[in-house]
Amino acid sequence: MSTTAAKGLEGVVAAETEMSFIDGTNGVLEYVGIAIDDLARQSSFEETVFLLWNRRLPTQPELDAFTKELRGKYAIPNELVEVLKHMPKSAQPMHALRTLVSALGAFDEDPNTVEPEAYRHKALNILAKAPTLVAYFARQRQGKDFVAPDESLSFAANFLYMLNGEKPTETMERAFDVCMILHADHGLNASTFTSRVIQSTLSDVYSAMSGAIGALRGPLHGGANEGVMRMLNEIGSLDKVDVYVQGKIDRKEKIMGFGHRVYKAYDPRATYLKTLAKRLAEDTGNQALYEMSHRIEVLMEEAVAAKGIYPNVDFYSATTYHAIGLELDLFTPMFALSRIAGWAGHCLEQLDGNRLIRPKAEYVGPHDVPYTPVTER
Ligand code: CMC
Repeated sequence: MSTTAAKGLEGVVAAETEMSFIDGTNGVLEYVGIAIDDLARQSSFEETVFLLWNRRLPTQPELDAFTKELRGKYAIPNELVEVLKHMPKSAQPMHALRTLVSALGAFDEDPNTVEPEAYRHKALNILAKAPTLVAYFARQRQGKDFVAPDESLSFAANFLYMLNGEKPTETMERAFDVCMILHADHGLNASTFTSRVIQSTLSDVYSAMSGAIGALRGPLHGGANEGVMRMLNEIGSLDKVDVYVQGKIDRKEKIMGFGHRVYKAYDPRATYLKTLAKRLAEDTGNQALYEMSHRIEVLMEEAVAAKGIYPNVDFYSATTYHAIGLELDLFTPMFALSRIAGWAGHCLEQLDGNRLIRPKAEYVGPHDVPYTPVTER
């Protein structure tokens, strides 16, 4: 049994960052010192990405130039469309996204550069194209024609347009934009750590981003938003919530969308998403899922809040994405579309004064074991 290993690396400080600050005890999240709530209320995803990558808010001309470059990269090359067309319709969108982001590297004639300015443009290219990849894949599996990106639209509006074939309402665009802001960065979470580990080997941006997508997919990380939706579907109706939650508590099973390694208070992103989910539920007249979610929260508060377990970002993002009209298995890809900003920002930080990330494992197996030839085993 190991004595010195920090299981799950809990509490280990493995990098420095100037992007997001988290105070898990008091439920605080800031991007470059600005409260997440202020950004959610007043910023845009585009401006937030600039903030994270430059560690300051842009001037209007800077924001215009950044937005223009992003929009100019929405379209994906025809060769990649051909790759996408060969993906099975049954593929899960996270697997499709991971594969297609990786494939982007194969179409780049200079994929390996880690020179910061070139890296930044490549990261922006991935950020701009990822929504197109997801929207195209989602339409293809439904047998629908692709809807080409519209460079006159924001990141949020363009994604919903490519997905649905019609421009979103202002409310839906803003709701989705806020979701993108809230998910953009979050310290050294598992997928960000993955991206930094990959980048620390001086590998390339495509490897770092596709590796991070793989880490994000897991149900303990970004996959939890899909898990929340599956749970709500499984419960079915408000009157069945109490029995379901009590059963989970009695069996000591986890409820998806609750708990966090860092937050032992209410996740500030969940606070905002809860308000958003409630508003969308009222606007769309479909309040059933919100009411079920709220009842789960009340029951969990009575049962486990004393242990520091509260809703996390994934809990109310599930009902929010549902209200926006997204299919269940697109929820985690939505997390990825936004978090590419955080991953790339961290990789740029990693490259600035890089040192290979290479911790140790404590060997806890046997010693002096005689080799037995295969014929004698
Ligand atoms: N429901 C019920 N009990 C829980 C939950 C939960 N969702 N999460 C943690 N606990 C309990 C756990 O049973 C344990 O209790 P005890 O000390 O009595 O054995 C205690 O809290 C500590 O749990 P842990 O799993 O050791 O904590 P961790 O820091 O290793 O894990 C976590 C953090 C997020 C993986 C975990 O809370 C979890 O599995 N939550 C459900 C999945 C989820 O919502 N993940 C999204 C995380 S936030 C966004 C993101 O990163 O993508």
